[in-house]
Amino acid sequence: MLQTGYRANKMIQTQQLDAIRQRLADDIEHAELLKETSLSNIYLLTGRQKYVLKENKNGSIRTEYDNHQRIFDIWSRHKETAEFHVPKLYFLSDDESFYIMEYITEAIELKNVLPMQSEKALDIYNRTGRCLRQYHEMMTEEIVDHRMDIQNHPPIAQLIAGKNGKRLKEILSKFDAECYQIIFKDFTFSNVMVDTKNKVYLFDFQKIEYYAPFYYDLARFIDTLKVFTILEHPMFAIRRWPLIKKAAERFIEGYGKPMDQTLLQSMQSLHRKEHVSEKYRKGLLKAMTLKLLYTFL
Ligand SMILES: Nc1ncnc2c1ncn2[C@@H]1O[C@H](COP(=O)(O)OP(=O)(O)O)[C@@H](O)[C@H]1O
Ligand SMILES: [Mg+2]
Repeated sequence: MLQTGYRANKMIQTQQLDAIRQRLADDIEHAELLKETSLSNIYLLTGRQKYVLKENKNGSIRTEYDNHQRIFDIWSRHKETAEFHVPKLYFLSDDESFYIMEYITEAIELKNVLPMQSEKALDIYNRTGRCLRQYHEMMTEEIVDHRMDIQNHPPIAQLIAGKNGKRLKEILSKFDAECYQIIFKDFTFSNVMVDTKNKVYLFDFQKIEYYAPFYYDLARFIDTLKVFTILEHPMFAIRRWPLIKKAAERFIEGYGKPMDQTLLQSMQSLHRKEHVSEKYRKGLLKAMTLKLLYTFL
């Protein structure tokens, strides 16, 4: 019997559950809302095994499902040498509103690792850097068609067309061809989980074809690590700021490429503009807060 551990307005309908049970060949007994983000509802389904159902709030989730499948297939072919993991997919629903994937058991989001297990967390951040390098190299080798230049990413294209566009073009022109890789694009500490055996999982493959200087993923990771730790764990951020900085450094070290600090800072300034411009869609106050925080970092 299905238990109602989820909120009434976010119910998975009984007919849907019957179809899910059939397709998984598992008698799902329990469904609960695990997480809600601005874009998705994430449910935990429990039968003989545990699964995650990811539902898009705004229409079809097919592109993300196809991206995830493509990354999973590539990863499967290289998994002996890869230190990171990708959750396995089960299926996309007929109406394309959700898909079902492997539940990453007893894992925590990287964003909660620092406040929970501070010193040990530095090693995890270091490993995350190594995993990102492997992801870049693996995907750059495999994703060769339909690469999209980062300048065509709509928010960046818009900024380039705007009043500071010349400056942003200048920033991008500083990076030579060798820096270009297939990037993760939304490489934040919310899209990385670590399980009890310290296995690193990457997920949430919204954009897999952006071709950009690898500095982009590093810049986004460091910037979001700092601002979201301040916003979500303010007391911890105040008390342990040196540790947060250290985590960013260990992450960069783990990435393991000779790093030009000036290029990294230039990419951070581009990323911060993009991030703030994106936030305007969520409201003026949020965008202004982010802008203010970035002026202090
Ligand atoms: N396969 C999974 N196993 C366990 N938890 C997951 C899984 N997928 C997502 N989550 C949890 O749900 C959160 C949001 O998932 P995510 O795919 O990043 O959604 P969004 O696209 O809305 O950011 C993650 O940060 C993580 O806490
Ligand atoms: Mg996410």
